[in-house]
Amino acid sequence: MKEKYYLSIFFCLVLLNSAICQSNHNTGMSASDLDERMKWWEDGRFGMFIHWGVYSVFGGEWDGIDHGKEMGGASSEWIYLMADIPQKDYKEAAHQFNPIHYNAAEWVRMAKNAGMKYIVLTSKHHDGFAMFDTKASDWNIMKSSVYEKDIVKAFIEECHKNGIRVGLYYSHEKDWYHRSKVGRDTSEIPQSYEALVATHLKELLTNYGQIDLIWFDMGIDQHKKLNQMCFDMVRKYQPECIISSRIGNKLGDYRNLGDRELAPPGIDGYVESIMTLRLNWGFDKNDSNWKSSEEVIAMLSKCACRNSNFLLNIGPGPDGRFTPEEIIRLENIGQWTKQNGEAIYETKGSPFKAEYEWGSVTTKENKAFLHLYGRKNRLIQVNGIQSKVKNAYLLDTNIALSFMQNTDKATMTVTIPESAYEKCVPIVALELEGELKVDTEQGPTWLPPVVKHTNRRKMKGILVEVGGRSFTLNDGKVQKVFTLNEHVEYRINDNGIIQMASGFHLIEGNKYIVIYTPGELLSVEIITRIE
Ligand code: GLC
Repeated sequence: MKEKYYLSIFFCLVLLNSAICQSNHNTGMSASDLDERMKWWEDGRFGMFIHWGVYSVFGGEWDGIDHGKEMGGASSEWIYLMADIPQKDYKEAAHQFNPIHYNAAEWVRMAKNAGMKYIVLTSKHHDGFAMFDTKASDWNIMKSSVYEKDIVKAFIEECHKNGIRVGLYYSHEKDWYHRSKVGRDTSEIPQSYEALVATHLKELLTNYGQIDLIWFDMGIDQHKKLNQMCFDMVRKYQPECIISSRIGNKLGDYRNLGDRELAPPGIDGYVESIMTLRLNWGFDKNDSNWKSSEEVIAMLSKCACRNSNFLLNIGPGPDGRFTPEEIIRLENIGQWTKQNGEAIYETKGSPFKAEYEWGSVTTKENKAFLHLYGRKNRLIQVNGIQSKVKNAYLLDTNIALSFMQNTDKATMTVTIPESAYEKCVPIVALELEGELKVDTEQGPTWLPPVVKHTNRRKMKGILVEVGGRSFTLNDGKVQKVFTLNEHVEYRINDNGIIQMASGFHLIEGNKYIVIYTPGELLSVEIITRIE
């Protein structure tokens, strides 16, 4: 009797638990629906983000002043707000937006060649400008620019032709043209704005065939009605289309991390890390903080090991071309993915919550891939693997590697030839007997330091003192001491044109804007003398 009672309680709990696990309470979607929807996305792992619009015309500058991230601003695509450009001037820039070199086929070719499986293009950013043909308002590429061609349409057609998944960024919350020109507006959404968003979305979701992802941005929970409307429209018109979590109210299918934040080891669920190739998302004339190809490849490799997608940003110029720096990096990444893609696509991330000092693991069927993005050791310890390893080899060259394994203790060492490290992020493939089995207790314990992609900061004030390598600035409230690098080099913003300077020509009593990197030493990046 008692046993029966316990048994029925047990079953109730099992049922209850599976009901909770199976359905996401906000979206009313079962886990299997979600898994099906996310399959191509998770398998693809790697995508291209493109920030392109009227803001690209400015390249971060307005009225001789740089407002991009280089100058401690938000990012160059925020210039309409950051520089408070009058609407008539911004409209004039839109009118001049004439990207005669825009070639969607070339963009898609470059993304594909780099090994990217999806592209997310800004169809409307915060400036409210539609890069597509729309009846919702005249503030669009057909009616407000001399270009008069539907950019989104050409982009989608090329993606479809080439088997690249289509993502559209759509700024539903912020719209500085149709709603309000402020940084954050929590006030009630006007009916007219909601109607505009509804028209835009219906057009995007019904005029161009299959859309695979809508990348909503900056949704806020106070605007549940708007967010829910956007969600419902996507589900209605394109039920298979994935929705980003920045829609708000936990309505998204997966989780977007913060801007330029890499997924940490051990993170759960569907996660996307988004990264700029330099500081700004949109095109910026003065931003020369390019990440190297090696850095970006290591990021892709880390993301795959951490079960995260990697969406890498390009900010094309106003004429429609990717910059040479972007093109070179995409080519280098492509060379790497062609040789090592097997360790990225359709893989699962590491089964361990921590990493090895030399790197981490992805796995697929009866293979495990060791991603050597960390310490460059000749002998690497690979603890925690219980499956018997039949072969070990370098994935790009097929060169066999010697190894020693004790399956009972789940320990193993692999010898890495020095030459392997001449290439960036070498991958070692392990051929296993059966699928990867691990002993998590024996697994790695090392946790990499969290790297925060801190933004640069800005301070405007009077130079009160110069001494040695340092100088002191006072903004009326606080006083900060800044330090120059050992070459006494810094960059001077001379009416928007940034030049290298060396020496020390700062004048006490003058007013300066200093862009600096926060940390123990407040190191100076750019100095602008304003008075
Ligand atoms: C931020 C910015 C935006 C950019 C986005 C990319 O939320 O507002 O300019 O498009 O991040 O992730």
